[in-house]
Amino acid sequence: MDVLLPPSCETALLERFLKAEAMALWAVRSAQAKEVPPGVLTFLRRHEEEEAKHLKEFETRLGVQSHARETLPRMPSQWWALVIHLFGYEALGLEFAKLLVQVQPDLQSILEDEQVHVAFFENEVKKVLAPGGSAAEGARQSARAWWRRLPSTVDRYLEGDSLMPFRSELKARIMASIFIRFESLTLFNDMAQ
Ligand SMILES: [Fe+2]
Ligand SMILES: [Fe+2]
Repeated sequence: MDVLLPPSCETALLERFLKAEAMALWAVRSAQAKEVPPGVLTFLRRHEEEEAKHLKEFETRLGVQSHARETLPRMPSQWWALVIHLFGYEALGLEFAKLLVQVQPDLQSILEDEQVHVAFFENEVKKVLAPGGSAAEGARQSARAWWRRLPSTVDRYLEGDSLMPFRSELKARIMASIFIRFESLTLFNDMAQ
């Protein structure tokens, strides 16, 4: 991604990303209470620690504390749907991490963590799709539903005056990048035109 954002966007980005990280952390916590394939739980535990560290880093930089939520967000219990949510949110997190390093290059390690998270879930999505059948079909349906909600999610994440001049271009870039990711995994196969 080309450099697009000036340093004046840093606070707005950190504030949005703080919310996204809090959301990712809760999602990962909630996923650990579900039935997941062998090996995934170990990754989720490490993943949770990394998201908690990212959150702490943003809280420190912003001098705020995000509010702990008592109830975890509702996550699907079926793995084929849950994996799409986790993959989608991590893909979105990665897009924000790419923006963040434009204005704050010393957050590069966060970008690297997000690349690892995305790659892990990408691989898990492939495993769900490979045998075909109802789980693969369910995953594709979840992906389409998740994709339909994405524009409003991205809008929420791009609020803030300093981001206004860049909003439509940023939104288009983020959506395009995630579309390519989903499409290359064949998640949009059979999508109604
Ligand atoms: Fe993160
Ligand atoms: Fe992440």
